[in-house]
Amino acid sequence: MQKLIIKGKKELSGNIYISGSKNASLPILAASILANKVYLKNIPLVKDIFTMVELLKFIGLKIKINKKKNIIQIINKEKNINTSAPYKLVKTMRAGILVLGSLLTKYGKAKVSLPGGCAIGTRPVDLHLFALKKLGAKLKIKDGYILAEAKKGLKGNLIKFPSISVGATENALLASCMAKGKTVLKNCAIEPEIEDLILFLKKLGSNISLRGRTITILSKKIKNSKINHKVIFDRIELGTYMIAGALASKKGLTIKRIDPKFVKSEIGILKKIGVYVKKNRNSIMIKKNNKLKKMNIITKPYPGFPTDLQAQLMVLLTQVEGVSKIKEDIFENRFMHVPELRRMGAQIEIKDRTAIIKGPAKLIGAEVMATDLRASVSLVLAGLVSENRTIINRIYHLDRGYEFLENKLKKCKVNISRI
Ligand code: EPZ
Repeated sequence: MQKLIIKGKKELSGNIYISGSKNASLPILAASILANKVYLKNIPLVKDIFTMVELLKFIGLKIKINKKKNIIQIINKEKNINTSAPYKLVKTMRAGILVLGSLLTKYGKAKVSLPGGCAIGTRPVDLHLFALKKLGAKLKIKDGYILAEAKKGLKGNLIKFPSISVGATENALLASCMAKGKTVLKNCAIEPEIEDLILFLKKLGSNISLRGRTITILSKKIKNSKINHKVIFDRIELGTYMIAGALASKKGLTIKRIDPKFVKSEIGILKKIGVYVKKNRNSIMIKKNNKLKKMNIITKPYPGFPTDLQAQLMVLLTQVEGVSKIKEDIFENRFMHVPELRRMGAQIEIKDRTAIIKGPAKLIGAEVMATDLRASVSLVLAGLVSENRTIINRIYHLDRGYEFLENKLKKCKVNISRI
């Protein structure tokens, strides 16, 4: 088991280059099943991407990864296609469920393992199945698998999601791409990653429009063409490093290869707390400020404050004078980082789904354990501002979603190493 060791209280300064978005890459990789030849650029070479590539190979697609140029080439020769996603590949990477929509709409059948829960919650997929049923799919759950069929193909329909779900919106989008007639999806998630998926599907020949939280898909014969697509930058990685700058950079941390318009709510909140934020066309400069104000935050679907930055923001709020609160309104159990932060000296209580954070707390390095992707990066952030050494165990969680984390931090003078 690898560990990360961080020697804290170092000034963070320099440039950080943001990678492509993991959460845009995963649905777009699933959408590649619908095409013939796809070249994807700016894909982050992180564990979840390699797991999704394994799944696409299992289905029968030919994949070439050019690590130097950061290009993934995906060819679907339509030979020996295996319309299934086995448990061993879906259990570690829940987004494997996204191949369900593509396989069903293109091949009329799919056998996909139920993803099961994870550290942050039960993670049901009822909204995914609700949408596919509305498009005419016959669904059965047997031995932990979803058996889906659409012998005569899927048929467009009006689908109103009872609650907002990123994955269910993506699966419904993928499935309706080759359904007959028009599909209208209401109460959709509208994260930038979903807009990037829509951009990709339009290159495939689909006619898709997004207004408010309504997506309209007029399915057209998919021209199995050659598609080039550069994936959007990772706004959660950006938010993570913005908070790192707010915690530990007096001289200023410049974060590049981004578009500030996708992180308006995060910038607004950091400015309200009193962090120095300077936006440029495709970079943001962050500076630590000693007069930080307490804040009350509720995590919301985009464009609200993202649940994927909740653990990271909590570390910043431990350093702020007064009592701050964060209500986790998306997942039922996303405070696994709290006991670990407490071990480092943070003063945090949990009441229902609200974390009450008393600051400023002096953080002392300790041996801690990563539990899920974003909780693990919050321990890295805490390590930056802790006295002496922090040792983080189970960092495979980190490797699922942060590309070259140590190198990026080392280049900004952080004393961090992996053993
Ligand atoms: C996506 O997960 C992201 N993952 C998550 O990022 C992110 O935290 C989440 O969206 C919310 O923004 C990817 O994009 C690969 P949801 P997803 O469906 O699609 C409930 C990370 O760190 N729900 O929007 O699984 C669900 O339990 C990951 O990169 C149902 O009840 O999230 C949750 O409470 C972690 N039924 C809420 O909706 C369903 O059928 C939002 O989940 C589906 C979801």
